[in-house]
Amino acid sequence: MPHIAEAIESIANAARTGLSASPKTLPPWLFYDEAGSLLFEQITALPEYSLTRTERALLAAHADDILAALKADVTLVELGAGTATKTGLLLRAAAARQATVLYQPIDVSPTALEEACAQLSAGIPGLTVRPQIANYVTEPIHVMRETHKKVLALSIGSSIGNFSPDEARAVLAKLRQQLRPGDHLLLGTDLAPGPQKSVRSLIAAYDDAQGVTAVFNLNILSRLNRELEADFDLRRFEHQARWNAGESRVEMHLVSTCAQTVSLPARSMGRAQTVHFAPGETIHTENSYKFTAESVRALLTPSFRPVRSFRDADDHFAVTLAEAV
Ligand code: AVI
Repeated sequence: MPHIAEAIESIANAARTGLSASPKTLPPWLFYDEAGSLLFEQITALPEYSLTRTERALLAAHADDILAALKADVTLVELGAGTATKTGLLLRAAAARQATVLYQPIDVSPTALEEACAQLSAGIPGLTVRPQIANYVTEPIHVMRETHKKVLALSIGSSIGNFSPDEARAVLAKLRQQLRPGDHLLLGTDLAPGPQKSVRSLIAAYDDAQGVTAVFNLNILSRLNRELEADFDLRRFEHQARWNAGESRVEMHLVSTCAQTVSLPARSMGRAQTVHFAPGETIHTENSYKFTAESVRALLTPSFRPVRSFRDADDHFAVTLAEAV
């Protein structure tokens, strides 16, 4: 686990870089402190946010087909596992087909991994969980392999959509280095608007009626206030979700409602920083890319080759099984 001082230093670095950039940005990993992680759990249950429910239904319906397609016993590894609430569906299906199942969840949050271990180990016979606390983007990952078993790597929840296409391809290439031909990746991706998915409903998923996503987005400023002693006045920023058709992504922004100046003190930043906002100027906090069959294929190439894709009847979400090549 990173030392508290190191954690503060990376938050300070992110704030220093992002808030002096033009346009201003803050990286989405800042969302996930304890409060933000709880808010994200609430988002996954919102009526407007169907990603989690749809993917869970796809996994429930097709877990067995997915495992059968590998034609061998499997070892599972998951990038950004969190509390692994949907993974149980795949682990149970694997446990029904093979005597023992090794599962390696990788995540930056030790508390999420502890919860995943406690939840899963109790209910699935033959399951061994070997968690790895790591940021799979910035730190090395190590995938354990068992004799006569293939690796099934998981990147679900459309978390790949929070990276730029170049970053996402780099993440998959790094994973591919740990795999062998014949191993597989299961990739969950939220789909772009189409005949049964309007832009309006997509924006509503990121700007819900209860305002939970607004609180989630604004929590990034509360976090800078708490951890860096910044003086953001949250009443002077508004949550905004935008559809960027050219980039096929939903963007989340925090809009400054007036001309204002925010201070981040030297105590936490090394050197004091003053940030000026013009009225209407925004801090861009997140991109959430939305995919088509073609953009999923482009993302997987050259590390993987798609072999099967499972979609819901309304074409809202896709789970793609791809083979390492
Ligand atoms: C974690 N990630 C896939 C979510 C998404 O949909 O991009 C994060 C999120 N941001 C706002 N609502 C949910």
